[in-house]
Amino acid sequence: MPEKLRGFRDFYPEDQEIRREIFETMMEECRRFGFREVDGPSIESVDLYAHKSGEEIMGQMFNFIDKGGREVTLVPEFTPTLARMVASRKDLIKPLKWYTLAKFWRYEEPQSGRFREFYQLNADILGSDSLHADVEVLNLASSIMKGLGLGNKVKLKISSRTLLDDIIKYLNIGKKDSLYYLLDRWIKISDKEKDSLISEIGISKENLELIVTGKIIEELKSPNLDRLIKIMDEFNEYSTIKIELDLKIVRGLAYYTSTVFEIWDLDEKMRAIMGGGRYDNIISQMNGDYTPAVGFGMGDAVLENLLKREGLWYEKEKKRVFISIADDKGRKYSYYVSKKLRESGIMVDLNVTERNLGKQIEYAAKMGFKYSIILGEREFTNKIISIRDLITGEQFSINLEDAIIKLKNS
Ligand code: HAM
Repeated sequence: MPEKLRGFRDFYPEDQEIRREIFETMMEECRRFGFREVDGPSIESVDLYAHKSGEEIMGQMFNFIDKGGREVTLVPEFTPTLARMVASRKDLIKPLKWYTLAKFWRYEEPQSGRFREFYQLNADILGSDSLHADVEVLNLASSIMKGLGLGNKVKLKISSRTLLDDIIKYLNIGKKDSLYYLLDRWIKISDKEKDSLISEIGISKENLELIVTGKIIEELKSPNLDRLIKIMDEFNEYSTIKIELDLKIVRGLAYYTSTVFEIWDLDEKMRAIMGGGRYDNIISQMNGDYTPAVGFGMGDAVLENLLKREGLWYEKEKKRVFISIADDKGRKYSYYVSKKLRESGIMVDLNVTERNLGKQIEYAAKMGFKYSIILGEREFTNKIISIRDLITGEQFSINLEDAIIKLKNS
């Protein structure tokens, strides 16, 4: 039997239908917040990511030389594409509120919540440097969590790179990049690696403790801290999910300029469900107009793990009916009946085999249909339809109009 590639997933209907509902909830929430849908290519030039996404993403690209000799890659994330799209159009009316839900590819080590191919929702506001834009994207992310039933199962962790830079200055720390790296990897690296980074940075245990616990903000005066606190206060005006300042949130991507945030499960047993922040410079770096931006990416994989853990990974009940066909007259009648039912919004499947009636009903029950409509000569001649409740076994005949009302309401 041929095998699928490591880090890739097959999406069978029983899970994909649930995934699709979740995606619809996410996108519906984006639209309710006034975000408009966009999309981009699945392949981009490797150059697009150089110096923008950072070393980690550069090392994880699915890159190859195409037939024209160009070095291209499957897109590892949406932000550089988004920046390119905005940079190349001078006529766009800003601020823009854009979202997309697409597949992305990263050559990562597959593990729980991490694949080489994944879906990610991106929502970004481009063209506003106001903290209100930060608050709006955070409120959107929190509303999505609430819409998925996770409002009290997750928390938002937030920090700011400019604030961290103030702290670095205040504490006189020389090796900024190593400190960023240490904080970003805090829960992922071993104590040994931590110790060697700490001695490389030359930071005292006391000062590191002040950063890791966040206590440093009690003694620091900084407009960047005031801004962050204002964002958190305004977020609390709208949203109910827990928010906490965590200076260990620096994020792996190179382009973030100030606010950075992630959503985690409450006890932080999983990975980040969502990550994002403010990136004010990429668009001008691509020779576009100066366009400060803020947004997030939310993947499907950790979300799925969390929804499963919380017992929320199930399909909301759909009004589905299966039409079983008894004879030739029933087949002819089934085209009329199925069309009417589908036009009224009911999801209708019908027998496409030569199986006998008993086997058709058995199939419908096994597939989890609640009702089977049975059509034969009697139903055709009397212009009625017979409905069997597959759970109770009860069967009755009614006219089509009444059947539509019943099936829609049951
Ligand atoms: P990111 O932190 O690389 O940010 O990814 C955001 C989210 O995408 C993660 O928290 C995770 O849920 C999901 N994700 C990332 N990599 C994988 C993977 N290999 N397998 C499964 N899920 C994954 C970005 O991508 C930024 N471009 C987000 C952004 C948008 N920032 C501003 N706007």
